[in-house]
Amino acid sequence: MFKVVPIPILNDNYIWTIIHDKMTVVIDPGLSDPVLKYHHENNLDLTSILITHHHHDHIGGVNEITNQFNVPVYAPYHKKFNFKYHQVQENSKIQLFDNKLELSVIEVPGHTLEHIIYHGNELLFCGDTLFSFGCGRIFEGSFGQMYDSLKKIKSIDPNSKVYCTHEYTLKNLEFLKYYFKDNEFYKNKHQDLSKSMITLPSLLKDELESNPFLNSSFEEFKKLREAKDLF
Ligand SMILES: [Fe+2]
Repeated sequence: MFKVVPIPILNDNYIWTIIHDKMTVVIDPGLSDPVLKYHHENNLDLTSILITHHHHDHIGGVNEITNQFNVPVYAPYHKKFNFKYHQVQENSKIQLFDNKLELSVIEVPGHTLEHIIYHGNELLFCGDTLFSFGCGRIFEGSFGQMYDSLKKIKSIDPNSKVYCTHEYTLKNLEFLKYYFKDNEFYKNKHQDLSKSMITLPSLLKDELESNPFLNSSFEEFKKLREAKDLF
């Protein structure tokens, strides 16, 4: 019923686009041109924009896009936002596609303080908080905040597909191979992937099983994240 396609931009970003009946919702449009082009070429009608956090590669296209499509933008509060938006927070429900899709908001401070994610209907748009075999860099929050945020993600429907904003899977597996000293599982996973592949979405239940950032104790998590920063 809902198709989700990536519009790749910049080095490794995806602008995830939910499509239903020739209508769309885009998440984190870092650039405007690829979004406008995609809609024009496929004769699609943009109906809403969702924002996870304030980094430029997630919001850079909003003003240009809303000049052409008069659509609501949903975002957490951030003082730097220079576009009109509906402020959402923990437990906000967003109705999309004429109430056919409802997404809920969870606040996940860590990568940035205002970072939020959207989930519902077995879809999870997690911005820069969770990656396949990894998690986001902690820029503004504390290790404790990020750890608690990842814990919140564990309560989401495990059948959810995980739509992260960056294609980091291969790099994350390189790190895990190194950190866990040629662990067979990560080695095999790494071998199965190539540089040009779109590896996303992953499945939350697979991440719960094999993403060590999700299933470590706090001390292990801290050590892992610190080692990843230096890798
Ligand atoms: Fe970011």
